[in-house]
Amino acid sequence: MSGITHLKSSEEASFGPQEFFSEQWKVYQKVLNNNYMGHREVYCRLHELLVSYFQKPFKMLDLGCGDANFTAQALLNTNIASYKGIDLSNPALEIAKQNMAVVQCDTTFIQGDFSELVSQLMQAQQDRFDVILISFALHHLHLEQKDYFIGQLKSLLASGGIFILIDIVSKEEEDRETYIKRYLEGVQKYWSLLTPQEYSMVENHISSSDFPETQQTLQEISQKYSFTRFKCLYCDPQETTQLLCFSQ
Ligand SMILES: C[S@@+](CC[C@H](N)C(=O)[O-])C[C@H]1O[C@@H](n2cnc3c(N)ncnc32)[C@H](O)[C@@H]1O
Repeated sequence: MSGITHLKSSEEASFGPQEFFSEQWKVYQKVLNNNYMGHREVYCRLHELLVSYFQKPFKMLDLGCGDANFTAQALLNTNIASYKGIDLSNPALEIAKQNMAVVQCDTTFIQGDFSELVSQLMQAQQDRFDVILISFALHHLHLEQKDYFIGQLKSLLASGGIFILIDIVSKEEEDRETYIKRYLEGVQKYWSLLTPQEYSMVENHISSSDFPETQQTLQEISQKYSFTRFKCLYCDPQETTQLLCFSQ
């Protein structure tokens, strides 16, 4: 595969990205095509943010970029100068490369676990980014892992840079079990084009892999690491998903 750097990852074996791609990826594409997770609204807001925030060329790091389809659309007609996408899945990165071809900027794609790669990028001390984006991927980490991970991001940000988190967010005082139950009720009600088998895959994935935090918790973690400014730029009508912007 050309243009994609491969880094070995211990996570790769356990997560099974090839399996994820072939099985869950198709369902995820169906979810995106029907806008069940609100990508259209969220990425429209992201585009507005990037246009208003960066009057000068900027560099973006996209962690868990997947096929970068929505990111590419959000980056059109912005001052993007360079884009680096990281994902566990090779096939997703191959598609990301094609999707990003419409955006006029330097692109790099790295296959590997972003938790490990962020440490490596920090140690290399070469890259600094104006935007670090992580969209629908942080919630797989447990609270301590999220804390450690967010703590590392600061040293990868250029002066004046922003950290953008798009993810599932639970309500204050809502525990994980209640959130998952509420989210799945929404899936059953609104994701009407899923087949019973697809619903079952979604339910299994969410029940086993989703660990949402409250906005308050995410804000507290980021404040601990000197992200003193915080804005919620989007919250969906079901109050399950948010676009949060952190800066220093
Ligand atoms: C739900 S998809 C989100 C894709 C895209 N960012 C979006 O918002 O539509 C999650 C993506 O994160 C990737 N991912 C999950 N954990 C990862 C990790 N530890 N390191 C790198 N990529 C990861 C998966 O392979 C998948 O492509």
